[in-house]
Amino acid sequence: MNYKDIFANELYHAIEKKVEYEIIMKRIEKPSQESYGDFAFPCFDLAKIMRRSPQQIAQELAEKVEHPAIERCEPVGAYLNIYLEKSDASSAVIGKILEGGKSYGTSDVGQGGKVPIDMSSPNIAKPFSMGHLRSTVIGNSLALILYKIGYEPVRINHLGDWGTQFGKLIAAYLKWGDEEKVRQNTIKELLTLYIKFHEEIEKDAALEDEGRGWFKRLEDGDEQAVALWKWFREESLQEFNRIYDLMDISFDSTNGEAFYNDKMDRVVDLLNDKGFLKESEGALVVEMEDDNLPPCLIKKKDGATLYATRDLAAAIYRYETYRFSQSLYVVGNEQSLHFKQLIEVLKKLEFDWADHMHHISFGMMLKDGKKMSTRKGKVVLLEEVLEEAIQLANVNIESKNPTLQNKSMIAQHVGVGAVMFHDLKNDRRNDIDFSLESMLRVEGETGPYVQYTNARACSILRKGQYSQGEVQGVDDEQAWPIIMLLNDFPEVIQRAGRDYDPSLVAKYVLDLSRSFNKYYGQVRILDDKLQKEARLNLVAAVSVVLTEGLRLLGLHAPQEM
Ligand code: ARG
Repeated sequence: MNYKDIFANELYHAIEKKVEYEIIMKRIEKPSQESYGDFAFPCFDLAKIMRRSPQQIAQELAEKVEHPAIERCEPVGAYLNIYLEKSDASSAVIGKILEGGKSYGTSDVGQGGKVPIDMSSPNIAKPFSMGHLRSTVIGNSLALILYKIGYEPVRINHLGDWGTQFGKLIAAYLKWGDEEKVRQNTIKELLTLYIKFHEEIEKDAALEDEGRGWFKRLEDGDEQAVALWKWFREESLQEFNRIYDLMDISFDSTNGEAFYNDKMDRVVDLLNDKGFLKESEGALVVEMEDDNLPPCLIKKKDGATLYATRDLAAAIYRYETYRFSQSLYVVGNEQSLHFKQLIEVLKKLEFDWADHMHHISFGMMLKDGKKMSTRKGKVVLLEEVLEEAIQLANVNIESKNPTLQNKSMIAQHVGVGAVMFHDLKNDRRNDIDFSLESMLRVEGETGPYVQYTNARACSILRKGQYSQGEVQGVDDEQAWPIIMLLNDFPEVIQRAGRDYDPSLVAKYVLDLSRSFNKYYGQVRILDDKLQKEARLNLVAAVSVVLTEGLRLLGLHAPQEM
C-alpha cells in the first residue's frame, strides 16, 4: 500500500467512515514545508458532520491515528500533520522499486478494457503536419500509460485516404504527372499536382467535373482509378513510416477512411429509418438544433459521403470489433465541433456506448507565435525537423563526449526525444511554441535534461560497482524528498491515465530529476563507506523510475550520453 493510502485508511476508520475514502484521499495535502510533516489533512469540512470545531477534531484524530509506518501525528490548528517513519518508509519504497523493476507502478485499474486510440491520422498525398505529430506523440504516450494501468489500447491510424480530392489528384496525375518523380518524392510531387489542378480550374471550370468524375469511378471500383489510388496511398505511407520509425512508434491498425466505404450505407439507412435524415438544399443532414449544434452533413448533393459519415461508420465498427470500454480520438482543438456532432448523432441512434467516446483535443504548434502551416507549395517537412533535432543532439555529443559508443543511435534518442518531450510537458490543450534550441537544452524543462539525469545516475552506479543486494533505507535527510516522489509514481500514472494527461508524467520526471540533482549536489554518494550501499540503492531506484517514466512518454533512456 502507498503511504498516502495508509494515512487515508487510518483517517477513514478514525472518523468512523463518515466521509468516503475517495474524498479523504482527495483532501490529503502535501504540506508546503518539510517541517510540517509528510502529509496534512484539513479538518474544516468535518466540522459540520462531527459537530465540533475543526481544531478539536484535529486534536482527536491525532490521538486515534496510529500505524507502524507513521512516526507521529501533530494537530496544528485545523490541520492534522503526519510524519512518516522515515527509515522504514525509505527501505520499503526503494525495496519495492528494486524488486519490481520496470513493473513498479503497474496496476489493474483498466481491467483489460479495450481502448481504441485514433491517433496520428495524416492525409494521403499531403504533408505530415505538426498537428499530426502532436496527435502521434500524445496518442502514443496515452497508449503506453493506459496499458500500464491495465487497459488494452489499440493504436489506430485513421488515414485520410478517401474523398473527392483523390478524384482531382488522379485527374491531375493523368494530365501532368511523371511516374518517376512521384516515386521519388511522392508527397511533394502529389501536392504540386494538386495545387496545379486548382490553379487550372480557375481557367477551365470543366476540370472540376473531371475530378468529380474520377472520384465517382474510384468509388465504383474502376480498375485504373483504384490502382492509382492504391499507389498514392502506398507511397505516402512509406514516407509517413520514415517518421514513425524515427519516433519508434507503430500502429495496430491503419484502416483509414476508405476502409469504411462499404460500411456507410448502413449508417445512412439507420439514420433514415429512425427519421433523422432531412433534405437541405439537395444534401442529406441530421438537424442538431436541440443540441445547439449546426446540422451534421451526411451526404452531399451528388450523393458523395463525407468525413462525418465515415467517422460514424468507424465508431460503430470500433464498438462492434473491440467492445471498447472507452474510445479515444486524439485530434486538434479545431475539430471539436465535428466530434461533438459525431457523439450526439450516435446518441440519437441510442448507442449508449457513445458516452464512452472522448475527443482528446490539443492546441496548435506555433512558431514565433504564429501557426506553423504548410503554406501553399511550401512544404515544412516534419522529417527535416526531426533530422535537424538529431543533428543538433549529435553536435552536443561530439563536443561533450566524443568517445561515446553508439553515438548515432543515442543522438536519435535524444534529438527525437527532445521534440516529443516538448510536446508532452504542457497541458495538451494549450498551444505550444516550437523552438528546437530550447527543446534540446540540457538544463531546463526538457527531455534531454531528464535523460541526462538518468545517465548520471547510471554512471554513479557504474563507478560504485553497484550490484543489487539487500535493500537498506537511506538515512540522509536530503534523500527524503526523493523517497516521497518515488512513492508517488504509481498514483501519478493513474491520474495521467484517468485525465488523459501525459503532462503529469512529464512534470513528474522533471521533479524527480531536479530532486535527484539537488541530492547529488549535496551528498557525496560514493565517499562514505557505511552509507554507500544504501545510497546506491536509492540511485538505482531513481534510475528505474526515470527510465520507466520516460518510456511512458515514448522516450528512450540512454545509460550514457
Ligand atoms: N485526417 C484528419 C485530418 O488530418 C484527422 C482524422 C482524425 N480522426 C478521425 N477519426 N476523424 O484532419
